[in-house]
Amino acid sequence: MEAHQANQQVNLQRVSMHDLDNLASTAADVLSQVRDAMIEPHPRKIAPTFSSAAIAELCRVDKTQIKYLTQKHNLPSGQKPEGLKAKEYSLEDAIAWVRAIGPYPSRPENRPGKVIAVCNYKGGVAKTSTTVALAQALTLRGLKVLVVDCDGQGTATQLIGISPEQDVDVEQTIMPYIHGDEADLRYAVQASYWSNLSVIPASSGLLAAEFAIPAKAMSQRGFRFWEMLKSGLEPLRADFDLILIDTSPSLSHLTVNAMIAADGLLMPCPPDALDFASSVQFWGIFSELVDGLPNANEKHYDFISIIYTKVQANEISRLVKTWMKQAYGAHINGIEIPDSTAARTASAQLKTIYDLSKPDGSAEAYRRFKDPLDRLADYVLDQLAIAWRQ
Ligand SMILES: Nc1ncnc2c1ncn2[C@@H]1O[C@H](COP(=O)(O)OP(=O)(O)OP(=O)(O)O)[C@@H](O)[C@H]1O
Ligand SMILES: [Mg+2]
Repeated sequence: MEAHQANQQVNLQRVSMHDLDNLASTAADVLSQVRDAMIEPHPRKIAPTFSSAAIAELCRVDKTQIKYLTQKHNLPSGQKPEGLKAKEYSLEDAIAWVRAIGPYPSRPENRPGKVIAVCNYKGGVAKTSTTVALAQALTLRGLKVLVVDCDGQGTATQLIGISPEQDVDVEQTIMPYIHGDEADLRYAVQASYWSNLSVIPASSGLLAAEFAIPAKAMSQRGFRFWEMLKSGLEPLRADFDLILIDTSPSLSHLTVNAMIAADGLLMPCPPDALDFASSVQFWGIFSELVDGLPNANEKHYDFISIIYTKVQANEISRLVKTWMKQAYGAHINGIEIPDSTAARTASAQLKTIYDLSKPDGSAEAYRRFKDPLDRLADYVLDQLAIAWRQ
């Protein structure tokens, strides 16, 4: 009898492929309902508005000068929404201000745009949130940015307001190029709800790249499979100041391609013992892999930089930071993005901190999270400016 009951319990746990199909489709239905509740209908996201104080902060001028500068440079003067006293500026207005009087370096004419890959084969270390926030912050410093989503999860695509499963056909991703049906990646670039931020979206169809790339390498002798993304992005360097590639949590063929295509690497890494250990392994495998490629010593990076992410204010985190400093030396850029409720609140609405026109919750928590991201954008822009000068 007992054996029979135990058997029944075991049977209850059994899942047939048919059950799995049902599970997948029920979960997809629930997600699409929840998603519609979380974000506006098409276009799924709307850009934030900016106060005069935010415009002054972006342009690094005093707020009292805004009126005078508007007239002097014939700049957008913002709108007063009905019933409100303060002026609001659109994202386009903010970018026009920054481009006219902001203190930021820009890409010299005739210099190609740069490519940065955001990578770490550990999952959940804030690769995607950092990629999208950085892309937005750099458009607010006057750059034209393209985000290439190289992760089949499509989280960057989703954060840029495009639902990977509902809105993205595999033909709109990098896949046609990977299959050899397109000569380069220009066909895949889409504008987004955010001015000067374009995206090459991803969907789960990208997983096929992990079979298509080695198959091509096997069938074509001498085919440089690790340089596919690099070649595909080449013509886009003329159109964009910066191409940011978000990668998946693995050292997949696509991730290796992204890292080879890149002029700079950013690795978000929480100062946690296991995340640190995993990052060490990641650099070890990657450098071995690159060493094995023909002409390996031709490859160089403008910079490789490690950012502390999801930093908790505790003893262990302080200790691991000292190990990471020893291990990575000057590659630690010193920027610490705290583990933050502001980050969680924003991402629960499929937003980044830059999507919010004002703090959603405590102003202090908002600043504590946004300030280091602003510093990261300044840091990356400095690195780009140095590389463009060389
Ligand atoms: N500073 C932060 N504080 C708290 N939570 C954060 C922070 N940054 C990111 N998160 C949360 O951590 C989770 C993972 O973030 P994200 O998707 O950016 O990581 P990822 O490295 O791209 O993950 P994956 O490896 O799956 O691609 C998300 O739920 C995000 O909201
Ligand atoms: Mg991600």
